[in-house]
Amino acid sequence: MSLDTSPSPAGRAGDPVYYGGDYNPEQWPASTWREDVRLMREAGVNLVTVGVFSWARLEPQEGRFDFAWLREVLDLLEGAGIGADLATPTASPPPWAATRYEDLAPVDERGARYSHGSRQALCVVSPNYRRLALAMTTKLVDELGHHPAVRMFHVHNEYACHVPYCYCDHHAASFRAWLQRRYGTVEELNEAWGTAFWSQGYSSYEEVLPPRMTPTFGNPAQLLDYKRFTSDAYLEQFLEEKQVLRAARPDVPITTNFMGLFKPLDYFAWASHLDVVCTDNYPDPGDPDSTAHSALHYDLVRSLNKSAPWLVMEQTTQRVNWRAHNVPKAPGQMRAMNYQALGRGAAGLLFFQWRASRSGAEKFHSAMLPHSGVDAPGWAEVVTLGRELARLGRLAPARVQAEVAVVFSWPNWWAVEGVAQPAQDLTVQGQLDWMLRSLYQRLSTLDFCQPGEDLAPYKAIVVPSLYLLSDAEGANLVSYVEGGGTAFISFWSGIVDERDAVRLGPYGGPLRPLMGCDVLDVAPLPEGQVLEVEWEDGARTTATFWADVAVERDGKVLARLADGPWAGRPAVLATAHGAGTAYYVGTRLDQAGMARLYDLARATASPGPGPGTERTVRRDGADRYELLVNQTPTEREVQLTWPGTELLSGAAVSGRHSLRPWGAAVVHSKEG
Ligand code: GAL
Repeated sequence: MSLDTSPSPAGRAGDPVYYGGDYNPEQWPASTWREDVRLMREAGVNLVTVGVFSWARLEPQEGRFDFAWLREVLDLLEGAGIGADLATPTASPPPWAATRYEDLAPVDERGARYSHGSRQALCVVSPNYRRLALAMTTKLVDELGHHPAVRMFHVHNEYACHVPYCYCDHHAASFRAWLQRRYGTVEELNEAWGTAFWSQGYSSYEEVLPPRMTPTFGNPAQLLDYKRFTSDAYLEQFLEEKQVLRAARPDVPITTNFMGLFKPLDYFAWASHLDVVCTDNYPDPGDPDSTAHSALHYDLVRSLNKSAPWLVMEQTTQRVNWRAHNVPKAPGQMRAMNYQALGRGAAGLLFFQWRASRSGAEKFHSAMLPHSGVDAPGWAEVVTLGRELARLGRLAPARVQAEVAVVFSWPNWWAVEGVAQPAQDLTVQGQLDWMLRSLYQRLSTLDFCQPGEDLAPYKAIVVPSLYLLSDAEGANLVSYVEGGGTAFISFWSGIVDERDAVRLGPYGGPLRPLMGCDVLDVAPLPEGQVLEVEWEDGARTTATFWADVAVERDGKVLARLADGPWAGRPAVLATAHGAGTAYYVGTRLDQAGMARLYDLARATASPGPGPGTERTVRRDGADRYELLVNQTPTEREVQLTWPGTELLSGAAVSGRHSLRPWGAAVVHSKEG
């Protein structure tokens, strides 16, 4: 069933803002469940995820199932008007399964097998795992899938989270089959992997292994394909469960929970299979950049499937327990962080977890209902937020439309962070932080697009180190600019093809028409080295990390390196191409330099809402909602774009508006 016809529990007129969390009733006596449901109602909870880690309780021995207790929980939820996001428990096989079937557990690159006693000790390719997971899913949906409390199905949990890569023999066989489908003959595989290097030529597929432990660098093309294969292998297992659920209940939407910028899975490829895209986000409140990281996280997740609603499936109310030092959110900060997600289009705000555990590895992780119960200050925050959200249901169908897109791809991420690169410390996160920092201060929100996606809806695109791209993707970016778009492209872009083979000649491959220069070599700079950059008007900024060794060609040089071994080389160029303009940046400009760059284009020159505050807009036809969030512990003033009604207070507002510490405002107005 396609996304268009599949009902979604979110994003439609009349839907509430979903609010709730993971509910693990199996950790508590049945007497506690009634109290849970009563307190959920008090907090305005309307959706909880059940069953995620219940496999051992639902199937205590192979083939012996017990669904009665979960049915009772669903009855209680239904009686209280609370929906259930019913999860398949397949992320944590029970000890009997691991004991009976050794191959259920994954194997590391040295050949050591993981043990049960934690969670996610599973090999997703193991036929035994697949058979048991499918049997569990089939039985679950038979027994409980038609319960009236069920609003959504949640497959597995955080696929690939703890042990992304398995190197067992099942994986070896499956990898070979995947490669054979991709390349056909072994000669073509040898060509694709460049195995002439280091005597790696294969005489048959049987000799091919997963990238197990090797004396030094493995083959980068093999490593890249193993990442592609692994993402596909997990997706195949997801689709297997999805098919069973869909066949039984075609009317119930299906999801799984993503983790934002999570490297092992190509979420763009996955997201088209989800009816609702869900994500788990645990920003570190002790990190001053956490607000910016969350903005990026939510914008990315919203962009993964542009026609599906998305929601926050997990976050913590105060603190996690898995960092070395778990700083809590300041009082009020949790609320601000939720309005940030709402402003970026979230259809729901859920937490891990409803009630804080007594035992187990997460007993010191905060929850909606803390250990100390309803007297804990965190509980009051949970209740306040739930009551506020109940007033914001009209936001459900309102969408976010960004004007600027970031071009991003998982295969590029895998390849650019591959082995033995010129700068091993060139990371995707680092490049995003560098290129987006000042943009996020200016623009309310950004979309993320794959290099082959239709970019025409955007006024500008930002391209951070798109090292790997296909000819067709390159042509797409070039034709976007030709058609009138503006592109900001950073160094180390267009370097290799899909096989991670270098595109010869000056660097840049299909992006060269947009670069304005010939990049003849590259120079990662010594740590701490700061180069001067001189702009056309004589202004000076600085640069670090990297310098292209380039000569100008058809571009206009806007800035040059002004000292160091490459003094005089172009650092920033503008190239008119067709009806558009491309800006190429051959070094890591400081933020003052980036600000000068973004000032050059109308789409990126916005002054922004002011430090520490965020402004986002959601629209539904003529209804316009401006969300303003103060992400600081001190009062801030913001300028409202349009006069309107502030929905949390009901007050008419216009002009300058004051936001309390960690405060938020949702201002409704009509277009035109
Ligand atoms: C997530 C996971 C939850 C819980 C949470 C703790 O990764 O899905 O089950 O472990 O982290 O922060």
